[in-house]
Amino acid sequence: MIRMALTKGRIEEKALEMLTACGYDLSSLSPENRGRKLLFRAENAPLEIVLAKSADVITYVSHGVCDCGIVGEDTIMESDGRFYELLDLNFSRCRFALAGPVGKYQSFISGYGHKVIASKYPAVTKSYFEGRGFDVEIVKIEGSVELAPILGLSDAIVDIVETGSTLKANGLEVWEEVADVSARLIANTVSVKMKKSDLDSLMSKLRTQIK
Ligand code: PRP
Repeated sequence: MIRMALTKGRIEEKALEMLTACGYDLSSLSPENRGRKLLFRAENAPLEIVLAKSADVITYVSHGVCDCGIVGEDTIMESDGRFYELLDLNFSRCRFALAGPVGKYQSFISGYGHKVIASKYPAVTKSYFEGRGFDVEIVKIEGSVELAPILGLSDAIVDIVETGSTLKANGLEVWEEVADVSARLIANTVSVKMKKSDLDSLMSKLRTQIK
């Protein structure tokens, strides 16, 4: 039996499509069957699925209570858990970007004043600015980080940009590209040895569905 932690929300939807295309019968996770349950079993294979928030997917896999997980590279970059990254599943592709108010990039980049960056990803933000030799203050925000520059809390944000419509709707624009991200299959470091054949078989099925 393999237990997989799956990131709830956008990743879950695409990952379930992919797993179903691999031949796993996951009808117990369909909207009409699932109710408020969080732990499911494939009808036709020794696969359990746990639905969790992205950072918790990494916690469960790192601690070995889940053998593997599907999570965004953004969450992986922000984490310090111990796990292996096995596959780039090439969906939920988006960009990490530094973004700020339209037309304000030049004054931001050339100004010497104190700079404040808001982000759901303080570790990624810290390493990005350290790598550029910039000293910035980072404010951690839990969601809708686009509000921070609008409210005057920060000069800019570091966040995920998918379609760009949230930035646009809030008078912001991409200033710099930080990194490309996509959904990844990760695995516990012990499970890759103890459950090698099960994980190999899962990986070879997933590989056939990577677009
Ligand atoms: C993410 C991200 C942006 C938005 C970008 O937020 O933090 O706010 O999606 O997508 P777009 O470029 O297609 O507009 P999410 O929807 O996960 O919500 P949150 O900000 O509450 O975490």
